[in-house]
Amino acid sequence: MKREDLKALLEDMSLQEKVDQMMQLMGVFYLDDAEGVLTGPARQLGVGEEDFWMAGSILGTYGAEQLMAIQRKYMEKQPHHIPMLFMMDVIHGMKTIFPMPLAQGATFEPELSGKCASAAAKEAAVSGLHVTFSPMVDLVRDARWGRVMESTGEDPYLNGLFAKAQVEGFQGDDMGKPYKVCSCVKHFAAYGGAQAGRDYNTVELSEHTLREFYLPSYKAGIDAGVGMVMTSFNTVNGIPASTNRWLMRDILRGEMGFDGVLISDFSAILETVAHGHSEDEADAAKKALEAGVDIDMMTSVYAANLCRLVEEGTVSEALIDESVMRILELKNKLGLFENPYKDANSEEEKTIILCDEHRKLAREAAGKSFVLLKNEGLLPIDMGKKAAFVGPYTNCKEIISSWAVTGDTSACVTIEEAAKEVFDLTRTSFHQGCQILANDYHLTGFGNLGESVPKELSEEEQKKMFEEALTAAKEADLVVMPLGEHFLQSGEATSRAMIDIPEIQMNLFREVAKVNDNIVVVLFNGRPLDLREISKTAKAILDVWFPGTEGGHAIVDALTGKINPSGKLPMSFPYCVGQVPVHYNEYATGRPNLEGMQERFKSKYIDIPNEPLYPFGYGLSYTNFEISPVTISKDIVTDGQSIKASVTVKNIGQVEGTEVIQLYIQDVAASVVRPVKELKGFEKVKLCPNEEKQVEFTIDEPMLRFLRADGTVGSDEGKFRIWIGSNSDTKNEAVFNCRK
Ligand code: IFM
Repeated sequence: MKREDLKALLEDMSLQEKVDQMMQLMGVFYLDDAEGVLTGPARQLGVGEEDFWMAGSILGTYGAEQLMAIQRKYMEKQPHHIPMLFMMDVIHGMKTIFPMPLAQGATFEPELSGKCASAAAKEAAVSGLHVTFSPMVDLVRDARWGRVMESTGEDPYLNGLFAKAQVEGFQGDDMGKPYKVCSCVKHFAAYGGAQAGRDYNTVELSEHTLREFYLPSYKAGIDAGVGMVMTSFNTVNGIPASTNRWLMRDILRGEMGFDGVLISDFSAILETVAHGHSEDEADAAKKALEAGVDIDMMTSVYAANLCRLVEEGTVSEALIDESVMRILELKNKLGLFENPYKDANSEEEKTIILCDEHRKLAREAAGKSFVLLKNEGLLPIDMGKKAAFVGPYTNCKEIISSWAVTGDTSACVTIEEAAKEVFDLTRTSFHQGCQILANDYHLTGFGNLGESVPKELSEEEQKKMFEEALTAAKEADLVVMPLGEHFLQSGEATSRAMIDIPEIQMNLFREVAKVNDNIVVVLFNGRPLDLREISKTAKAILDVWFPGTEGGHAIVDALTGKINPSGKLPMSFPYCVGQVPVHYNEYATGRPNLEGMQERFKSKYIDIPNEPLYPFGYGLSYTNFEISPVTISKDIVTDGQSIKASVTVKNIGQVEGTEVIQLYIQDVAASVVRPVKELKGFEKVKLCPNEEKQVEFTIDEPMLRFLRADGTVGSDEGKFRIWIGSNSDTKNEAVFNCRK
């Protein structure tokens, strides 16, 4: 539709009809006969039947046939036959589930993540969806926060690259094209900065930190052309994001140039009353509208108040027109006025969903996301040895994360299933050993997900399981232990004060360690965990996160050496929980506790090291790489002249492998204190044994810019350090100067 036609349409709409476009309800309300449903949950929302059937969009329902039926019925009732938008959380896959986003961050391969997003978009599109609430690009530093699994980590540069790749993967160059969906960057802003890692908690950040660390990844998504942005639940320096004019109008729309649809998070506008920022629902509606929030997700705050507020002259109808125009424009970009069903196709659902191509991609992405944290010669497994798999994830299909809400665990491949395809079964055995049981999840509120929480077995059954596993461990040459968090221990509303592996599994680990020294831990986790004990005792640790549908195959590929792990941590693994938030790019202090110092009055803990157990960017390989000292082409960078910094990387081991060569920079003395190190570039290099390659980075003046105290962005003259190495702890340093 042409813009003039959209304008004419808008002019012809009644005020209530416009306001209803700004309301989003759960799709589940639309599945049955509306009268029946309105006696249920929808009625509690205070939405009358007429408005109910005029809501501009729904969320959380998928399936071509179902959504086509809803669209048909809706368009008959909608006075101007405007199509409805169908939205859903397709976070790391629709039915074919790719590794969780933090794991995708570990690939250090944004293009691969883009391919996963593109495949997810295809499955979502044929299922009738138009919008996915993804990517989540919140910067994360606190492993207690359950939603770290949805982010790509603690680094703004890395997060920005992934944000761009994922947005482009979902939307392509035109979201109206076949198999593309509109992407929604979330949660604006700084949702990951919740105090004490407690979900929905207050966010207090200096504007400097907000701009320097938290905002760049949203900006990257916006620059990539994202169609939607979602507000966050939290306050930002005292004002809830969803009613924060400065954040939404000045920064998001003004500075960042976002002109798409801004949606609140689920009931977030209403929650500004509980925040103590809005007097009541009407006040919340007014404030959110004035902040420029176009869609109210899952409450009737807009639908029940905005017309009256306009009629009394409290809010301007022009603001409503502005929002509705953006919503109509989005529908238009998706081509819904021409084809309201877009790609919904029940026949293609059968052929595209979980197709071989998507499974292959899921296996590749999972394999590349695994991080080898430790290896004292046990991996890859010597196939001539007798191996016992002991642990509750040995044959567990729940390996897709709690944010894979459309995923189907029955399609998942377990470790045992995959291992049986390649291991010699005369010398390999499989044992659960114990349940995944965690004593810290609150079952209330998990709804039907609660059914995934295992019922505790009787003492006798547990004992039998345990003893059988122990006997096998004793008789084996090596024990592979698939252990970890339950998938409901990470995701939304799953903050944890203790970031450990459930005690029942630790007991199994300790008992196995008494009878066999050769333990390989295969770690399932939605967040960095406290691995002190495991890292001391196990000879090898392979972090596999929540790997997705093809997890079992990918894990067995890595255990057997069919693939060589190359993942790098996108988030530091703290030494212990008392150290969080911990991140490599911290600001310098006046009393740094430099290596080897034994002094009292330094910035340090007296009971633990300052350093995390495993730093950002860390990850081993089955081969070894030698990295030469850094050489630089010149030692002065000017406005117009860049320099080249390079290293030679050589594979000095026995097998082919991939190393992620990382470039870090520090401005040694600046008008505003700079982080001790900042990632500015990386390159993945694949090398055969004895092969070497030069890796070269260009360092130019824009790379040295930062946010100054006066709000301008620029670089300062003076000394800079660079490091090029295999993780953020690299000491491979060179120095140059910046001159104007
Ligand atoms: O997209 C999500 C968001 O991340 C958390 N609240 C609910 C939304 C819709 O499901």
